[in-house]
Amino acid sequence: MAAARRLTSAAIRGRKGSRFPVVTAYDAPFARCAEDAGIDILLVGDSLGMVVLGYDSTAPVDLEDMCRHTAAVVRGSARAHVIVDMPLGSYQPSDADAIRAAIALVKSGATSVKLEGGETACARIAAIVGAGIPVVAHIGVLPQTAGLGAGYRRKNDREQLLADGRAVEAAGAYAVVLEMVDPAIAAELTASLTIPTIGIGSGAACDAQVLVMHDVLGLYPDAPPFATRYAELGNIATEAFRSFGRDVREGAFPPAAAVTTTPSAAALDAPVYAISSKPRA
Ligand code: KIV
Repeated sequence: MAAARRLTSAAIRGRKGSRFPVVTAYDAPFARCAEDAGIDILLVGDSLGMVVLGYDSTAPVDLEDMCRHTAAVVRGSARAHVIVDMPLGSYQPSDADAIRAAIALVKSGATSVKLEGGETACARIAAIVGAGIPVVAHIGVLPQTAGLGAGYRRKNDREQLLADGRAVEAAGAYAVVLEMVDPAIAAELTASLTIPTIGIGSGAACDAQVLVMHDVLGLYPDAPPFATRYAELGNIATEAFRSFGRDVREGAFPPAAAVTTTPSAAALDAPVYAISSKPRA
């Protein structure tokens, strides 16, 4: 059977003017949950560094990290478009480096790549698009270099932001993330660009909204103020571990039935992890 076709960047560009969700994903099980919930655009963000790998910024994340987690998200999803962040250092040195890194991500399963920067990133965007790989731009707060001076404060330099938006569109980006952009300027960008704007902390006028899944699910203690927590999975996980620990200490786990039952031959042969053994339709 032919592999299911993933949502294309052209289809996403065609959503300009409609409202649509994007969520980050870093592994197979949560990619599957998001896709089953009807979210068809997944971002393997380099926020991976903080929310999964335990660093305090995105800076240490490398291409190998992004390739490994991209492949996991692709294995866990079937039709979603998988945007992948190009990590710091993978695209800044030269157009050739940028194309090489983007190709590595595509080989891992990325359907498009995302890189940070407005006017200053246009040569790289054009080079990667020229190599046939769709690109999402990212302007406003740029987390990869924010800690070096520019900071995480909301961006409100209207002239620069409008110039950045126009430049990345002209360079060939098919969508642009607006991170922590003043909402009035984000609205102006959304109205003036022909490509969809994907907002994070940039107000309601953006075409799309993206959130980090750990913020949506309550899995990360330091959620930004603009993120709504739709669940408290961190608390649920802690309670589940507490119950397991208590049961082991009190001799309630494993339950008596589990140790006395002789497993059937079929059960012994069954794979332990259903997710790795069950191909997606
Ligand atoms: O790394 C990331 O998760 C991002 C976002 C836009 C949330 O770039």
